[in-house]
Amino acid sequence: TDDRISRISSSIRVIPDFPKPGIMFQDITTLLLDPMAFKDTIDLFVERYKDKNINVVAGIEARGFIFGPPIALAIGAKFVPMRKPKKLPGEVISEEYSLEYGTDTMEMHVGAVQAGERALVVDDLIATGGTLSAAIRLLGRVGVDVVECACVIELPELKGRSRLGDKPLFVLVS
Ligand code: PRP
Ligand code: MG
Repeated sequence: TDDRISRISSSIRVIPDFPKPGIMFQDITTLLLDPMAFKDTIDLFVERYKDKNINVVAGIEARGFIFGPPIALAIGAKFVPMRKPKKLPGEVISEEYSLEYGTDTMEMHVGAVQAGERALVVDDLIATGGTLSAAIRLLGRVGVDVVECACVIELPELKGRSRLGDKPLFVLVS
């Protein structure tokens, strides 16, 4: 497992000053260029979640759409997209969340999930935790039990974990 984590960690490219001065951007596109690192990433999540009775994998647009679906397929769960506003064609419920400047909205189709279902929330990275906490609130409003949140990368200095309340967070690279 340590070998796999090292491979994953070294496959992530860090680009300084993107998109703004002072930001060290964690670029997972280089992880995707390394088939072994990508497979190890998915396998580590699948090993953790396969026997946890999870029937929903909720993936957050856009980069949660890369890691969520292969996990969902491997553990036999449905995949539910959590999208940016005005993208989903059916009836939606929405949740606002704060960004560094201003707010954004996350939407999910009504009827995609049922009260009492067990969900894993997947994204590529947790920074301030605003995005994941919006997903937790959205699923909570419809009675879904969020079992855990899973990310490839955590930026621990931003303390995003503390915004997830009682929901556990699992990350591969910190
Ligand atoms: C990035 C990242 C996470 C979120 C983490 O997404 O993919 O979803 O920010 O930040 P937070 O923990 O401070 O909320 P972004 O909104 O930049 O867009 P993208 O995934 O569509 O590229
Ligand atoms: Mg994102």
